[in-house]
Formats: sequence, C-alpha cells, structure tokens
Amino acid sequence: MEKNKHNNSFEEQIVKGIPSELPSKHIYSANVNHAPRRKDILTLEEKKLAIRNALRYFPKEWHEELAREFSDELEKYGRIYMYRFKPAYEMYARPISEYPAKTRHAAAIMLMIQNNLDPAVAQHPEELITYGGNGAVFQNWAQYLLTMQYLVTMTDEQTLHIYSGHPMGLFPSTKNAPRVIVTNGLMIPNYSTPDDWERYNALGVTQYGQMTAGSYMYIGPQGIVHGTTITVMNAFRKILPKDENASGKIFLTAGLGGMSGAQPKAGNIAGCITVCAEVNESAAQKRYNQGWVDVLIDDMTELVKRVKIAQENNEVVSIAYQGNVVDVWEKFFDEDVFVHVGSDQTSLHNPWSGGYYPVDVSYEESNILIREDPELFKTKVQESLRRHAKAINNHTDRGTYFFDYGNAFLLEASRAGADIMNEDGTDFKYSSYVQDILGPMCFDYGFGPFRWVCTSGNPEDLDKTDKIAMNVLTEIQRTAPEDIQLQMQDNITWIKDAKANKMVVGSQARILYADAEGRMKIANAFNQAVASGEISAPIVLGRDHHDVSGTDSPYRETSNIKDGSKFTADMAIHNVIGDSFRGASWVSIHNGGGVGWGEVINGGFGMVLDGSEEAEQRLKNMLFFDVNNGIARRSWARNNEALTAIKREMKRSPNLKVTLPNLVEDRILDNLQLKK
Ligand SMILES: NC(=O)c1ccc[n+]([C@@H]2O[C@H](COP(=O)([O-])OP(=O)(O)OC[C@H]3O[C@@H](n4cnc5c(N)ncnc54)[C@H](O)[C@@H]3O)[C@@H](O)[C@H]2O)c1
Repeated sequence: MEKNKHNNSFEEQIVKGIPSELPSKHIYSANVNHAPRRKDILTLEEKKLAIRNALRYFPKEWHEELAREFSDELEKYGRIYMYRFKPAYEMYARPISEYPAKTRHAAAIMLMIQNNLDPAVAQHPEELITYGGNGAVFQNWAQYLLTMQYLVTMTDEQTLHIYSGHPMGLFPSTKNAPRVIVTNGLMIPNYSTPDDWERYNALGVTQYGQMTAGSYMYIGPQGIVHGTTITVMNAFRKILPKDENASGKIFLTAGLGGMSGAQPKAGNIAGCITVCAEVNESAAQKRYNQGWVDVLIDDMTELVKRVKIAQENNEVVSIAYQGNVVDVWEKFFDEDVFVHVGSDQTSLHNPWSGGYYPVDVSYEESNILIREDPELFKTKVQESLRRHAKAINNHTDRGTYFFDYGNAFLLEASRAGADIMNEDGTDFKYSSYVQDILGPMCFDYGFGPFRWVCTSGNPEDLDKTDKIAMNVLTEIQRTAPEDIQLQMQDNITWIKDAKANKMVVGSQARILYADAEGRMKIANAFNQAVASGEISAPIVLGRDHHDVSGTDSPYRETSNIKDGSKFTADMAIHNVIGDSFRGASWVSIHNGGGVGWGEVINGGFGMVLDGSEEAEQRLKNMLFFDVNNGIARRSWARNNEALTAIKREMKRSPNLKVTLPNLVEDRILDNLQLKK
C-alpha cells in the first residue's frame, strides 16, 4: 500500500482533508517547473487581507507560524500556495476503484482532479496550474484537500459548490442534480482587467481556470494536436484546388510552447512543410528532443537553404527555427520563399509578461526588461507587432493565406497600431481560424471536441472505446449528407490512427470531433459496453470548452457570429444552466481562458456513464442540448451552415422547435436613406 511520510495510506489522507497535525515544512524543489513570480500588486493592507483570507482554512493555534510562512510566500511568489499542505502521496489519476466514495460520480471527479495535477500532465504542478501559465485547478493546497474530503463523503443527494477553487460546501440536492458546480474567475463585468485578476487572485478570492484546467477535463497534448491538425488540414483545403495536396507547401508560424508545440506535429499529419519559429532556446530544444519537430536550425541562411530543398523535394517535414518569427517573415519575403499558409501562436493573450518576445531584443534582455522596465518592454512589443504585421501584409499581397489562431495576435497588433484593419476600419484584415475554418466547417454543423476518459485506467478499455467510436462514425457516415462527409472522414481517420499516434499522457483519454448525432450515438454505445461488462469501469464524457455552444469569445469561438451578438455571453450561460439540469455530473463556467481574462466566458461539463438506464436518458438529453443550443444561436445569427444543420435536426427531432431568422435582401437596406 502506498505510504507517505506520516505513514498514512492515500485513502486515509484524503478522508482527513486538512490534517489534524501541522505537516512539516515543504521543501521548494528546484527541479520542478514552477509558475513565474506573479506581480506584486497588493497594498500593505491588502497583503494583510490576503494572509487573513488564507489563515481562515486553519485552526487558530497554527496562525502565528503560518502567517509568517504565507507572508513569505506572498513576497517571494506573489501568491499564497500553501506549499506545506501539498500532500506527500503521488498525484495521478488512479483507477476509479481506488477512490473511497459514496457515489461513483464523486470518485470519477477525484480521478479527473488528480489527473489535472499530475506532474506528468500539469505545467506547474506545485502551484496547481495545469496549462496556459495560469490555468489553475485550485488557488492553494487547502482548497484541494477540502474538496477531496467533500467528494469522499458526499452522497447522491448533495451538490458541492466550488467558487474559483474554494469549496463553499455540500448543499442538499437530488440524485438528478450535478454533483459539483464550478465557477472560475466570474467577476462583476467592470472588474475584469488583467490587473484585476492579479489583485483578486493574490487576495485568494478568484482564479483563472483557463478552460479544461479549472473544470478537471484536461487530457494532455492530445486535444491540441487533434484541433491543430483539423485546422491546418482545412486551411490547405480552403486555398488549394481539389486535386492538389499540401506536400511541398509551407506553413509558417511561431511558438513551440505548451500548446503551440503541437503545430509541427499537426503540420506533419497534414502533409506540408512546417516552419515554426521559437525564441526560447530551451523550448525549441525540448520539442526537438521529444520528437515533436524533425529539424532544429538556429541560422537564418541555413533555414532558407533547408526550406528550398524541402520545397524542391515535396517533403513532409517540420523545421524549428530558433529565433524571432518576425525575422523569418521578413527574410522569406526578401528571399522570395512563398508561404502558402501563415499563422502565429505566440502567447499574445499575455503580451506584457513574456507571452510575446519583440524582434531585435534578445530573449535574455527581454526577460530583464519585463522585470526592470515594463514600460519600455511594452513599447518594444508594440513596435515589433507593427513590424510583424507589415511583414505578413507583404506576404499576403503575394497570395499567402494568413489566419489568426486564437492567440489574440490581430487584437494586440491592432491595439499596437499595426496596419491590420480592413478598409472601413470595422474589422481585421484577416480572419480568425474560427471565422474561416472551424466556424463554417465544424462548429456551425455541431462538430466539436468531444472527449472521454476510461476510469479503469486500463489501456485495453481505451482500445475498445476507439473501436466502438470508429464503428459508430463509419455507420453514420454511410448516410451522412455531403456537406459533413469530410469532417466525418477526418475523424474516422484520426480515430483509426489514434493509438499509433501515442498521445496518451496521464488518464486513458481520447478526443475526436463529432456532431450531436455522433456524440450521442458514441456515448450510448459506450454506456451499453459498460453495462454489458465489455468495458470494465465507468467512462467519463466531456469536451474542451473550445466548442460549438459552451463558449462566447468574440475573437475566437464566436468570431464568425455576425449579427452583433458576439460580445454577449448568453449562449455560454444558457449552456451551463441547460446542461446542469439535463444530466451533467458536473458543470463549470469560467471567465478567461485562451484569449485572456475579461475576453471570454466559457463552460464545460463532465458526465459519468456507469452503464445504467438513467445514464442513457441523461446522455441523450444533455448531449442533444449541449450541441444544438449553439447551432440554434449560430443559425439565428444567419450562419448558412448552422441554418442547414438546425433545420435537419428539427426534422429528425420533432420536439425541437427553434426560432429561425427571416433573411433580408441587401437592396432593401441599400435603398434606405439612413443618416449617419
Ligand atoms: N486556437 C486554439 O485552439 C488555441 C489552443 C491553444 C492555445 N492557443 C493560444 O495560443 C497561444 C500559445 O499557447 P501556448 O500554450 O503554446 O503558450 P506558450 O507561452 O507555452 O508558448 C508560446 C511560445 O511562443 C514563443 N514566442 C513568443 N514570442 C515569440 C516570437 N516573437 N518569435 C518566436 N517565438 C516566440 C515563446 O517563447 C513561447 O515558447 C496562447 O495565446 C493560447 O491562448 C490557441
């Protein structure tokens, strides 16, 4: 049995919650990837408040000692993580049978939480950050301990309410209610600037949940590889004649970080030449060592030479350039290297603290400026963005197709005064990948990142689910209409190769894109397989928040909504409420995620399929709404593909009655004598 330093088993420890004896002091380990030091933003009085807030988790006798320790953490790291309370047992998704619980739904949630904090999965495991630099599961270790304890004791007639990582408590509810309700970072709208996050997070009253971090639904790099592959493949399809493929054609982009590192792998699956610039030498080296990129070059002349050879030979190859992406765009223009598809995945949702490195300033110098002269650094970033956009414009004048990949590139470039707006100044010159690709080709039809986790932890169960999903999709494809055939085929190919791609890190999880019909039929087949014993333990269903209905984000998920409603968040809120009473085991709704705090409202769910008839009812009811809510909204916004999809769904499901828009002829509006 697993033992910790106090000789308690894992089970005994999670039952205890906050230990009755003060644990020994934590040793800050140098060989763990720690979160960066956060901004020192609190006033003296606010610092006292932050410490008072932190101490309320603990008995009075410990306050004297912990107050000193927490004030030290606040000064050193800008946050109070309560390192001392990090449990000594190993953190990973155990098989569901190893969690003591009164309901299997709660046990499944514990498994998902531990997966998000597994050091093999999480970006900054000691600071409870799963990905994206600030995507937190909890704000501190006390919240983790209490949450696990609540989950152990909860029954099927209680619901745990979690406010930005803080477990407010168990409240009586019913068997049909979700077992957990999560909110992350929800603010009064006027208090949602990046500095508000710094302040209220430092006070310990809110957190940035990103998307799948704070909702316990992260599955490692697999999700992003799949999403990026679908995007790059469809980008080439969009610009190439039907009989031509991507081989020998260049995809130029930047970033080899947490998510962006998926780009070269996706480029290889899509069959093109990927050139990906990365300023951070160790990030570039790491991706190369991991085999995520085929070639690593740090010399510009060498890069141009290598790329020309790849073009001549129609190679499928991914090349990392260790340097600034602005230099690559400029050099390729001077050297007449034609770029078919261009994008960018630097972290522009976080431009002033190291998300974007300006050209002509070394990586090391930039890091000094960020700390010592943030104003000058900001000026350098903005100058660089203007140059970056200009170089891209030069290429697009020659025919390059450029798209924004949801990293706020166009938004920050426009704020920097770059030449990035269209002629009438109302919109950006370039489309986002959702406007051009994922929106019309996927989201408007209901295709989105459906995922599942086998709670047995047994890879054989995952193999069985892959087969089931492939059979279901193949069957649906037989009679699917022409306009969704490509999406069906891409996902059948993906699931066929999924095991061979070896993308599983942490829990036994899989992702694919499916529409409402696909998601419901796959889930139903899983539930039957659990009921018959073919699959040995329950399956958790979920999805990325980056989906059809769950997220309102005007520069990303909902950027192809053109009726003016893209700055509203009604859809995401309806979605989380609607999912919660239709059968989700847990639901979550977040401010922030991907594009930044205050820029998006996004939600998700988890659903435990335990083979029961109730689970069958729930999955049908909830998955139907979880997808069609967004299609209805997209069709009301007059998106053609969504109109087709919702009409088709209404024919299939007589209980669905959606308000459809009447389309207005342009000439009627053009003939009006409107005043400015
Ligand atoms: N569209 C999507 O589905 C999607 C998915 C994931 C992430 N994103 C967005 O993409 C961005 C990147 O995410 P991440 O997790 O990889 O972030 P990250 O910070 O881990 O990686 C970004 C990388 O860009 C490098 N970089 C910064 N400026 C550069 C420059 N001028 N030239 C070359 N390299 C430079 C950094 O060194 C870093 O390694 C984020 O803004 C994120 O929100 C979008």
